[in-house]
Amino acid sequence: MRPLLPLFLVFPFSGVLSQQVTFHADVAPIIYQHCTSCHRVGEIAPMPFTDYGEVAPYGEFIEYVTSIGYMPPWSPDPEYSHFVGENVLSQEQIATLGAWVAAGKPEGDPADNPGLPEFTSGSQIGTPDLVLTMSEPYTHGGDMTDQYQVFVLPSGFGDGTAIRSIEVMPGNHNVAHHGILGLDVSGTAAALDAADPEPGYESFGGFGFNAASSFFGAWVPGALPVEYPPGIGRTIPADADLLLQMHYGPTPVVESDLSEVNIFFSNGPIEREVFTAIMGPQHLDAPFILPPNQVSSFHGTMPVTEDVSLINIAPHCHLVGASWLVYATSPDGQDTIPLISIPHWDFNWQGYFTFPHLTKIPQGYTLHGEATYDNTTNNPFNPNDPPGWVLFGEGTEDEMFFIFIDVVPYEAGDEDIALGPSATTCPPDVNGDGLVGVTDILLLLADFGCLSGCTTDVDGDGLITVSDVLTILSVFGEPC
Ligand code: HEC
Repeated sequence: MRPLLPLFLVFPFSGVLSQQVTFHADVAPIIYQHCTSCHRVGEIAPMPFTDYGEVAPYGEFIEYVTSIGYMPPWSPDPEYSHFVGENVLSQEQIATLGAWVAAGKPEGDPADNPGLPEFTSGSQIGTPDLVLTMSEPYTHGGDMTDQYQVFVLPSGFGDGTAIRSIEVMPGNHNVAHHGILGLDVSGTAAALDAADPEPGYESFGGFGFNAASSFFGAWVPGALPVEYPPGIGRTIPADADLLLQMHYGPTPVVESDLSEVNIFFSNGPIEREVFTAIMGPQHLDAPFILPPNQVSSFHGTMPVTEDVSLINIAPHCHLVGASWLVYATSPDGQDTIPLISIPHWDFNWQGYFTFPHLTKIPQGYTLHGEATYDNTTNNPFNPNDPPGWVLFGEGTEDEMFFIFIDVVPYEAGDEDIALGPSATTCPPDVNGDGLVGVTDILLLLADFGCLSGCTTDVDGDGLITVSDVLTILSVFGEPC
């Protein structure tokens, strides 16, 4: 009879939940886990959400932005594939926020509040071995424009240097929106910098020339930098300049930024060097031309010539881009490995997405990349009004088709090598308060029956079932 107990719990508990939704018991756990990492002082979001007084005035707005999927910002479809740092709300969580607003945003009992999680300030990885800083601050004039500036950071390395992680540390979250890293060994970027009177030089899409690496990592708010597993790493060549392209968002006031790049050296020799595979316009089924007032789709293919393990993936296009789908198929067409789907591309929230584990693609498979571009007036980001002919290029009005994938040669056992942070090792502690309690069970039950993108999954099978309830009950009341 014992296994049935949780089923008895499910119904009365969720009944209680839907009748008495309060801030402290129901809303705070959702907001703290999914929003406050960005919505707190000093972070990128415009208003803090750390207590009832800050959240309640935005209740209706919060209900709206969560119901349309605008917040939390997470562009990959969680029903297609998962990535490290995935931040999505379940339908139940969205419904809870709506029910709270409908009930008049009751505060409830402060004793139910799970308390704010501990947020790390500074590096997400640890103490860096080297910090490269912009040579001087960059000033955004406060004229409400988007600004894209490339900063040249000389590595000063006399020899090629193996690294296990690289992390962009934005200096001013009021304006820093995202950053992309590149590498230059030709001195071209330094020359472009010298020719531009501002600190760094202006460049929208990429680095303005064919750099040695045009995707050596990236930062978007909320994303975690990847830390390569032992034996895996990448080498920064001798005397290379690191390039940091910062996107500064519109601001009505003058803001200044001094961003840094943290570099973590490899602990031992690199046995497998990370290689960036790039699918580009040369892999497409048609010439890359986007006629005005038309939605155009392209399909790129690339053969996979050896067994490889994928680390992360970053589709890249500009403002006309509308969606992405990337997958691999077996030679007989019977097997499809889903990699990433971005149903609503948003240039501002581009990033690179790290797979939860090294992901194997066998030799002989074909890699597919499909992108859709909406060059009509329906696309609110369309830089041309009225829509015009759009060709491949680096400018704001130009478009791109690139998929950057970091890979290493496959080795047996790679499937078990996790790429995410090991800090969150206690899934039953759903609300992150260090204890497995009633609130954790309520949160889990609110998600009961979830089949994908289940953020409260306790037993790690991706679903919320009786097994999760049993798991959580088995550690009930224990510190976690
Ligand atoms: C990764 C960082 C991040 C996370 C996580 C995040 N936000 Fe935001 N949020 C932002 C930024 C940046 C803005 C302002 C720019 C914009 O509107 O895109 C914003 C704006 C908003 C706005 C105002 C919208 C507007 O158009 O002005 C609301 C409301 C909001 N967020 C609610 C939420 C809620 C609720 C959550 C959690 C469920 C959440 N956010 C999670 C970064 C984040």
